[in-house]
Amino acid sequence: MTRDALLDHLRDAVGERHCLTDAALRASHETDWTRRFSGSALAVVRPGSTDEVAAVLRACSEAGVGVVPQGGNTGLVGGSVPRGGEVVLSLLRLNELGEVDREAGEVTVGAGATLASVQAAAREAGWDVGVDLGARDSATIGGMVATNAGGVNVLRHGPMRRQLLGFEAVMAGGSVLRRLPGMPKDNTGYDLGGLLAGSEGTLAVITRVRLRLVPRLAHRAVAVAGFADASSAVMAAARFRRELGSVLALELFTDAGLELVMRHASVAPPFAARRPAYLLVEVASDEADPTDSLVDALGAFELGDSAAVASDAAGRHRLWQLRERHTEAVSAEGVPHKLDVSVPLARYAEMIDRAPSVVEAAHAGARTISYGHVGDGNVHVNVLGPAADDESVDDAVLGLVLELGGSVSAEHGIGVAKVDWLARDRGMAAVAAMRAIKDAWDPRGILNPGVLFPAVDS
Ligand code: FAD
Ligand code: MLT
Ligand code: ZN
Repeated sequence: MTRDALLDHLRDAVGERHCLTDAALRASHETDWTRRFSGSALAVVRPGSTDEVAAVLRACSEAGVGVVPQGGNTGLVGGSVPRGGEVVLSLLRLNELGEVDREAGEVTVGAGATLASVQAAAREAGWDVGVDLGARDSATIGGMVATNAGGVNVLRHGPMRRQLLGFEAVMAGGSVLRRLPGMPKDNTGYDLGGLLAGSEGTLAVITRVRLRLVPRLAHRAVAVAGFADASSAVMAAARFRRELGSVLALELFTDAGLELVMRHASVAPPFAARRPAYLLVEVASDEADPTDSLVDALGAFELGDSAAVASDAAGRHRLWQLRERHTEAVSAEGVPHKLDVSVPLARYAEMIDRAPSVVEAAHAGARTISYGHVGDGNVHVNVLGPAADDESVDDAVLGLVLELGGSVSAEHGIGVAKVDWLARDRGMAAVAAMRAIKDAWDPRGILNPGVLFPAVDS
């Protein structure tokens, strides 16, 4: 099929005005959030139904043209933008919100619904979404399932895969897999939804999702406390987790990151004394206000004037901004190399402490800003300085992660950024098993070519 014939099929499938070929209209879909990854698309198509998604995939499959599924385009490993010549399949129009089942605590939503919109609907009904992350206003539920997103509450509720009860997805050739609503207990063969979680658009296009919701906890408190070094902050985090049954989030950041947040996000800490490392703790409970037990737990440390606690919504939000605004503050300084990794808790402080020198050795003068979800061993190492296509610092940091017994991707995925590291982390046998699944589900290799595996096998 010629390029023009494919474009005709795509226009037939989604309607002329939802098949974008004009460069200006394609532009925002062609560069990722970090600005490190970009490529041009043959077209950006915006289907409005599962049937339209199926028609697009049938046409692309017949033409042998790659398809890049795209939700909110907030992914940080380059998997949501074209490499060159693919069709971008934007799921943003599939944003319907089903009615929340108040008794079961479940809801079915379109893949293009944003996390914030689902949170609002769930909260209105007395429930909440188990996963929360800073990109909530743009990140979509489909993208979050496709990346098995983690975020700030994994230590309490697990990542996206754990929230998934049922799904609808379109396979490369256009056939529809549907397991809706899906049951909390469902032992009928392979867990295909679980397989799609973390598949990064390489196996099928997710069109609808049934989520298990979590209870909305009425009483909350947040503290930010400064420590002399990363090791003390990590030890404090472990102690909070052990002693406070109500812990919902445990986040770590450093003074270098706080400096950037203050510069670019215009927020300041509500305490006077700055320290090298900070811990953010959020506690939540339905039974009693957990503020007093949080304050008691903080009392075990000599924090001086480097801590603040808030129970009211505005105060909690202010403290969260100190951590959540890191992503945009780092990007405001330049195009970052974002290395999302996890290491055993016993090596967490070592990872934070050694990353800058490992980076410096790979690229003199590069700046390292680390922060992360310390409650689940997840560190985000951000490096500023090297050119976008210079992978020396990526290799140095990921090598350190494997030396420390960690994973080269904690929550953002492999995308195109870490393709070379998948086998080094998981081993050849695991990658061969993944490849066999990919080949069975997508024999023509049209779904997100270049993501997880090299585009062309060498
Ligand atoms: P996209 O970026 O559009 O796509 C991501 C991947 O999923 C791509 O490979 C794409 O092809 C695939 N995909 C998208 N939709 C579908 C679909 N319907 N079917 C099949 N494949 C699909 N991530 C975390 O895990 N934890 C965090 O705490 C976190 N915080 C963030 C904070 C900020 C400020 C930003 C910018 C990003 C953050 N992220 C975080 C990364 C990002 O938000 C998540 O990866 C999110 O899950 C991506 O959702 P999306 O809709 O933007 O997906
Ligand atoms: C975060 O935890 O802030 C996100 O995963 C985004 C990032 O790594 O900057
Ligand atoms: Zn994160």
